Amino acid sequence: MKIFIFDNAHQIGNAVGKLFVDAINEKPDIVLGLATGASPVPTYKYIAKQCAGGKVSLKDVKTYNLDEYVNLPKSDKNSYYSFMHHELFDHTDIKEKNVHFLNGNARDTEKECRKYDEMLEKAGVDIQLLGVGRNGHIGFNEPSICFSKGSFKVKLTQSTINANKKYFDENPMPTEALTMGVGSIMKAKKIVLIAVGNEKADAIAALVHGDVTPVCPVSILQFHHDVEIYLDKAAASLL
Ligand code: F6R
Repeated sequence: MKIFIFDNAHQIGNAVGKLFVDAINEKPDIVLGLATGASPVPTYKYIAKQCAGGKVSLKDVKTYNLDEYVNLPKSDKNSYYSFMHHELFDHTDIKEKNVHFLNGNARDTEKECRKYDEMLEKAGVDIQLLGVGRNGHIGFNEPSICFSKGSFKVKLTQSTINANKKYFDENPMPTEALTMGVGSIMKAKKIVLIAVGNEKADAIAALVHGDVTPVCPVSILQFHHDVEIYLDKAAASLL
């Protein structure tokens, strides 16, 4: 596990953004696993800027997002579909047919999850971008008694609801989501995790120094052979 510590989120965005731009230029049809939330926003800004400046093209890139809320219309500003278009896709030349999300409005969520897992398996993620929850969740894999394998429907914990409800000013925040499983996340060839702020310090300390346990899902990354962790000083303060 390689750990990089920066002064602020902007610097992390430039470093991780460059990592992605270089990887895309090296393999134009790369398959990316993407995250939402505050952590990757500066990275997406960097990639969008490079794309606008003609330094990289996403026209053959394929993406698979980690998670999506259940029963939230795709068009809602808080759906992860909207988030990704607003923060990244709309500012690049990526093709709509190449971006993939779990459908949180699927009538049969079991079937939807199996379909997503089959697509993921076939595509093979080259680089998976992750944030981490205060409670150590990755994707929406909340603390549990066992690690999940494939995608599934999850009931969000109070900690996750508290962290995200600020975005829901019009409608109440959904309490369920579909998420990629820990097993699928671990299949990515490379994993890049970003954590910013004091409230992530416990999860990062558990990731680096703790036991591997589903009670802190991010700890599983200790078993991956190619993980890079990008932290600001606050998130790294307990290391
Ligand atoms: C989002 C996701 C979550 C977030 C995590 C951190 O797709 O999978 O695991 O990465 O909740 O969120 P932020 O970055 O908002 O602190």
